[in-house]
Amino acid sequence: MDKEISQAVIARLPRYFRYLGELKDSGVERISSQELSRLMHVTASQIRQDFNNFGGFGQQGYGYNVEYLYSEIGKILGLDKKHHLIIIGAGNLGQALANYMNFERRGFIFTGIFDINEKLHGKMIRGMKVRPMEEMQEFVKDNNIDIAVLTIPKESAVATAEKLVGMGIKAIWNFAHVDLDVPDSVQVENVHLSDSLIKLSYMINQYEKEHDIGEEE
Ligand code: NAI
Repeated sequence: MDKEISQAVIARLPRYFRYLGELKDSGVERISSQELSRLMHVTASQIRQDFNNFGGFGQQGYGYNVEYLYSEIGKILGLDKKHHLIIIGAGNLGQALANYMNFERRGFIFTGIFDINEKLHGKMIRGMKVRPMEEMQEFVKDNNIDIAVLTIPKESAVATAEKLVGMGIKAIWNFAHVDLDVPDSVQVENVHLSDSLIKLSYMINQYEKEHDIGEEE
């Protein structure tokens, strides 16, 4: 693929992938851009434009082949390969993520969980025991780990990320509220759940403005 695809299109692909996965699971074989548009609340022309970036995926008047589209978008997103991930920080968030099975459906294999707190060592979380940090280096090497999930306080996230880079990790899913300085060869995705919540507050505000709903104290 030689053409540069815009970040906006890339950002929309996971949502397409999710909807197509659900359609596929419920046995839908073909879908038109109009039907997909109704389902996803995106205009049909946006969908056609987005898919045109990747050669269209469809035939005029035939609609899209759901299975094919799902697997092609999966390939673009690198989801045709398996990723092995470890979670660092077995607190509330780390345990919640470890317990969320659905990532595995997308090829993200939860392989290990680590924490600095001795009291947690050996505790079983979804069939995995929490391991001490000292075991991490060898574990990363032996288990072909490519993604680390950081669910530790920001104070220790930078140093931990540095260590992970040294171990040859390919990507960090960073929940700690701090920017990580890593080489270009290491991919970082920062997650701030509060951003999403703040967006919700903005949406409430906008709706109330547009519908002239005043504040009631
Ligand atoms: P928690 O206190 O329940 O868990 C943190 C765990 O990290 C503890 O088990 C602790 O022993 C461990 N830990 C601390 N330093 C460590 C180190 N150097 N190496 C390995 N393990 C270490 O906290 P919680 O609620 O799970 O949150 C974890 C972090 O994620 C916090 O920094 C919090 O601010 C952040 N957070 C971020 C969210 C986001 O949307 N980005 C949402 C919720 C929490």
